[in-house]
Amino acid sequence: MTTVLDVQRFKDEGRRFAVLTAYDFLSARILDEAGIPILLVGDSLGMVMLGYPTTLPVTLEDMLHHAKAVARGARQALLVGDMPFMSYHASTEQAITSAGRFVQEAGMHAVKLEGGGRVVEITRRLTEIGIPVMGHLGLTPQFVHQMGGFKVQGKTDKQAAQITVDAVALQEAGAFSIVLEGVPSKLAAAITHKLRIPSIGIGAGPGTDGQVLVLHDLLGLTTGKPPKFVKRYANLAEQRSQGSPRTLGEASEFVGSEEVRYGG
Ligand code: KIV
Repeated sequence: MTTVLDVQRFKDEGRRFAVLTAYDFLSARILDEAGIPILLVGDSLGMVMLGYPTTLPVTLEDMLHHAKAVARGARQALLVGDMPFMSYHASTEQAITSAGRFVQEAGMHAVKLEGGGRVVEITRRLTEIGIPVMGHLGLTPQFVHQMGGFKVQGKTDKQAAQITVDAVALQEAGAFSIVLEGVPSKLAAAITHKLRIPSIGIGAGPGTDGQVLVLHDLLGLTTGKPPKFVKRYANLAEQRSQGSPRTLGEASEFVGSEEVRYGG
């Protein structure tokens, strides 16, 4: 099984790695069998699976429900549960309780939290009690209203300096990796160089240690114009509109007569 020590080894050995989101049993099993080393049960499931406009309405119970399904599907991947909005904001004690539920009830091996500042202390406390933490800086979607939209962060010197300070502080507090989302490539590469722990980029250019993508973006299941950084390996939404069954009869032909087994 992939552990946080392996993830550190990837960086130490200069091996770049992939992280993908997973929200359900079958996709977790497929990605796990494909050898993806880290699966993130991201709160992006709020948009992708639940149809919300942002990640803010996603609850801890929603996250645990999906995380449990992912844990049933995966064998080898390091599983990271994304702490949703308001599951760690009230107090450090609340953060410990929420993170503990990800590990104890949902079978996650680590949690991810957005932001620097007070999240640094929470990271210290969680790692002290044995819950590994993945940080998340830059365009942090739970701050969408504060940021005035989903906008690239770190463009000014002041912002760039703050993100760098936060990244180092999270590392010193014990984080095992840090997602850098929506920051200029040069800044992401500079932070990656400065950090001992791996950085994981999304919309942050090619200079990070790992790259994370939302599975549904990669498969072309999300409709509309994809973000510039998304590499689509398929365009399933388009294929569906060209060749999908529209009636029950067509659907049974489409599936064929072989028994379709789910689970197990
Ligand atoms: O929720 C999510 O999927 C994420 C990744 C995009 C980093 O936070």
